[in-house]
Amino acid sequence: MLILTNNEGKSGIGETARLLQAGAAGLDAIEAGVRLVEDDETVRTVGRCGWPNLLGEVELDASVMDGDTLRTGAIGGLKGFLHPVSVARQLLQRLPHELLIGEGAAHFAREIGAEAGDLMDERSRSAWRRWFLAEVTQADQQTWPDVALEKYCHNAIDPEIGRDTTVFLALDANGSLSSGTSTSGWGWKYPGRLGDSPVIGAGSYADSRYGACACTGAGEMTIRAGTARAVVLYMKMGMSVEQAVAEAVEDMRALKGGLISRVTIHAVDKHGNHQVTAVNGLPENHYWLWKEGMAAPEAFPAHIVSISDDEPQKKRVAMTVYAQ
Ligand code: GLY
Repeated sequence: MLILTNNEGKSGIGETARLLQAGAAGLDAIEAGVRLVEDDETVRTVGRCGWPNLLGEVELDASVMDGDTLRTGAIGGLKGFLHPVSVARQLLQRLPHELLIGEGAAHFAREIGAEAGDLMDERSRSAWRRWFLAEVTQADQQTWPDVALEKYCHNAIDPEIGRDTTVFLALDANGSLSSGTSTSGWGWKYPGRLGDSPVIGAGSYADSRYGACACTGAGEMTIRAGTARAVVLYMKMGMSVEQAVAEAVEDMRALKGGLISRVTIHAVDKHGNHQVTAVNGLPENHYWLWKEGMAAPEAFPAHIVSISDDEPQKKRVAMTVYAQ
């Protein structure tokens, strides 16, 4: 048995490990753990208190995947509900679909009685307001939100870049692999932007025959490289989990333009071996792991690799200031 999560999953891994030890199915344990992270108001990129989009609205993405059946449930751009991971899980269990977005996702959430709530807190509201007053032209402020958002979207960068999203991978007592993701996505994103968290094959993938993978960082990059599915496929073709992740990093070297720094690939194989690699990561980039035999989950540093990043850095600092 094994449970692996990124640093943002810290508040959920204890419960997830406890449930796995008690014999729970991996997906049940993952859902319980991700819900705790979605409730954790100190995590500004998942669930309630996640940073808003350009219009000052929080849009949540989440997914789950069952590695035994290869069934998935994914939700994109969900507004007004506290636990997108549970909506994704119910989608997997109840609908003949794999992905719901926006209004349709909200309709389904209401239909199943998912818990509704205000996703913004005072800190998010005032950060967005500071950005609006400082960055939006007087003319656009007058007609807001009926303005062309494109120019703002290019400058808007997640204020907590590299500390985004939560991802969980589990290997349960039955040998089943599963994955779960949840995020508010890129802070100040263009409304409707989906990252990789709800895109199965990019931000996550689980196949109990081979392995599972989930990614954090700018989802644009893992969507372009098809990273999570690629890692599992490389394992299917005979690579070890370390080799599979290294090959997926090589795939990323071909991506020209975009925000590559801090994309982090988390992967496990069916035997419980694991690899976590952060592109241009910082020494503080950690992941959390619990394995059978460990008294409690522990944090470990991610393996760091370098890829040249040609995105301008300047505005990222400005967004961080608005978020103080
Ligand atoms: N990795 C999460 C996102 O890009 O939204």
